[in-house]
Amino acid sequence: MKIAIVGTGYVGLVTGTCLADLGNEVICIDKDRGKIALLNAGRIPIYEPGLPEMVIKNTCSRNLTFTDDLPTAIADAEVIFIAVGTPQGKSGGADLSGVWAVGRQIAENLKGPATIVIKSTVPVGTNAELSRQMAEITDVPFDVASNPEFLKEGAAIEDFYKPDRVVVGARRPEVVATLLRVYKPILGADRPFLAMLPESAEMTKYVANCLLATKISFINEMANLCTGYGAHIDDVRRGIGYDRRIGFQFLAPGAGYGGSCFPKDVRALIHMAKMVGLPCQMMEVVDSVNESQKDVLPRLILNHFGGSVRGLRIAVWGLAFKPETDDVRESPALVLIEELLQAGALVRVSDPQALEHVRAIYGDRLDYCEDPYSALEMADAVAIVTDWKQYQSPDFAVMSDLMNHRVIFDGRNCLDEAKVLSSGFQYQGIGRLTPGSSRPHTRANVLELVTPDPLSESFDLA
Ligand code: UDX
Repeated sequence: MKIAIVGTGYVGLVTGTCLADLGNEVICIDKDRGKIALLNAGRIPIYEPGLPEMVIKNTCSRNLTFTDDLPTAIADAEVIFIAVGTPQGKSGGADLSGVWAVGRQIAENLKGPATIVIKSTVPVGTNAELSRQMAEITDVPFDVASNPEFLKEGAAIEDFYKPDRVVVGARRPEVVATLLRVYKPILGADRPFLAMLPESAEMTKYVANCLLATKISFINEMANLCTGYGAHIDDVRRGIGYDRRIGFQFLAPGAGYGGSCFPKDVRALIHMAKMVGLPCQMMEVVDSVNESQKDVLPRLILNHFGGSVRGLRIAVWGLAFKPETDDVRESPALVLIEELLQAGALVRVSDPQALEHVRAIYGDRLDYCEDPYSALEMADAVAIVTDWKQYQSPDFAVMSDLMNHRVIFDGRNCLDEAKVLSSGFQYQGIGRLTPGSSRPHTRANVLELVTPDPLSESFDLA
């Protein structure tokens, strides 16, 4: 099938590359000539595991090409995906100017019947409005379908090939049939293809992300309560998670959610509710709990040092909003860094992928360290904000030698606290150990009954 994809951001590039890998003839379009030149030279502007190899393989076989020439690229495409960004606009709602501009350009250049598929996350009603706008421009028959993406950064290729479901919104059975052909190779008994109205498909994306964000804000609030009462969130998570109605997934407390999707989509749903005069109270709370959660780690650090970190050296491990990405958008690490700088601390940061993005924001206000251990030299404390694998079992002896004070603030609860404590470090996690408290049950006791420990499994899944 001949497929065109407009927008070579993270979603467009991953989707285009995977569709090419399935044997389609895919052309990816972007108005950013620099990006197209980069891609044509075999260089990938984002960090996504497995993507560079797959791009190179499919450009070599000519299944995948890149261009800035939209009119030529869409000329004989049967399906045209729109995968441009829909950032948060001034009102809090999604800024759709990119979607409208691309729709107009497609309509102006359409030569034969085509299915236009909105992959970007867009408010309910966008499908209908885009159809209306395009029909004013062209007499060529076309359909507009909606096909929200559920790709996680860092695991996007796996998510494409093994989707929990594929959601398609369309008004005509022929359009459903066309998209069924596109996705057929990756569907299966446990990977259903769900056809519905475009409005329902558009809503599905927001409901999915908002529910996931709600789970995180909920468990973060519960973790803070655990701290207040000397309970341990890991035990509580085990205690609730075996109830099959609750489960273990996406309930890991931490420094708050970030990234390009959750914060923006929660706010977009709040805005959508306002537009039709309906309440959206839960999402308002989810958003504000998350904003407060980003302050928990800075507060723990300040409290530990008696309210002042002026002149202290604080190391920050992890800058990306989550592991396996270089994305720092809405990352809790940025809030921590800002608060530490404001409070007069000297901040040394490290991250396997995101260092350059943070340098672009903070310039020479921070010390940047490729090696996480060099960030610890003479440090008074280290804060872990992203649970990269390489931070999860550090060499405590080396850390001890390097640091001024042995103090670890674990904003992702990713360290084995028993090991940390037995290595002579002071430790504070999120809802984990309150200083001076001890637990009657060790993790080993739990493991005698159940192997493997569901909490470490759920970390991988999260
Ligand atoms: C999300 C959705 O998962 C995906 O389906 C959608 O298409 C895009 O938005 P992504 O933004 O890549 O994907 O990140 P995700 O892995 O969902 O994590 C989002 C944030 O939540 C991260 O900051 C992560 O650290 C945090 N998180 C996740 C928690 O704090 N606790 C958890 O239990 C899970």
